[in-house]
Amino acid sequence: MDLHIQGKTALVVAASRGLGKAAALALAQEGVNICVAARDVNTLNQTAEEIRQHTSIRVLAVPADVSSRHDLERLAQAVRQELGAVDILVNNAGGPRPGLFVEMSDEDWLQAFNLNFMSAARLSRMVLPSMRERRWGRIINITSIGVKQPMPNLVLSNAVRTGLVAMSKTLAGQVASFGITVNNVCPGYTMTERVLALAANTASQTGKTSEEVITAMEASIPMHRLGKPEELAALITFLASEQAAYITGATIQCDGGYFQGLM
Ligand SMILES: NC(=O)c1ccc[n+]([C@@H]2O[C@H](COP(=O)([O-])OP(=O)(O)OC[C@H]3O[C@@H](n4cnc5c(N)ncnc54)[C@H](OP(=O)(O)O)[C@@H]3O)[C@@H](O)[C@H]2O)c1
Repeated sequence: MDLHIQGKTALVVAASRGLGKAAALALAQEGVNICVAARDVNTLNQTAEEIRQHTSIRVLAVPADVSSRHDLERLAQAVRQELGAVDILVNNAGGPRPGLFVEMSDEDWLQAFNLNFMSAARLSRMVLPSMRERRWGRIINITSIGVKQPMPNLVLSNAVRTGLVAMSKTLAGQVASFGITVNNVCPGYTMTERVLALAANTASQTGKTSEEVITAMEASIPMHRLGKPEELAALITFLASEQAAYITGATIQCDGGYFQGLM
């Protein structure tokens, strides 16, 4: 299926590894020019090179910490200069630290808010004026299945990402008449370094091995396996397409059936 996004420009942040990288690769395969950002410059450059080898589009790599307003301003300026206006924004970030409510300080809460909420709010604000002018845009936030079914031991993630979903829903209504859609995708357990780190953390607290923790995760999923990053990337790419023009304000899970609720 031709998704009619060839030649457009996407900014995908937190994209040197895992879900963000898979989204960048999938969009690149549709002929979208890509800017990727993350903090570690070596991994980021390797990822940019990998995308270039798979495709013939333009790829820009900008080292940036998405929790820093200064870095985001520099990033937005670099994309504008090198690739032009952003048509597709994929908001992503590392996960906030796991732990119980009683373990979290004010600083932990504020860090999580900056990382997982303000990064998306700031970047959306930066790209919206040109999307409105050109009456076309796609904003897609990578959140978590925790926004539908809070995950044990991930209180920061559950709370802050739910705020992002509410912000996006409100924004979707405010920009719909400009041809701009705003949607959230919710990965369930998906095989990336983040999941391996969470499994190691749970293992250290429970006396189990990481393998046992992963096996328990798989058992909790009706499909009895973890997701693959490219499966979430396929959903993101479709939401970025012309065909998805009428889907906005939606929060869609990609979780192998993990979420048991109706909505
Ligand atoms: N995988 C899952 O099962 C799953 C499920 C639900 C939700 N999620 C959420 O989805 C997001 C992506 O997860 P993932 O599994 O792909 O994680 P990952 O494999 O650990 O990759 C995280 C990516 O984000 C970048 N990053 C982290 N902190 C950043 C920052 N402050 N500024 C810029 N880039 C940053 C990392 O690069 P640098 O470290 O070099 O910056 C890396 O490229 C996370 O928020 C995670 O909590 C994941």
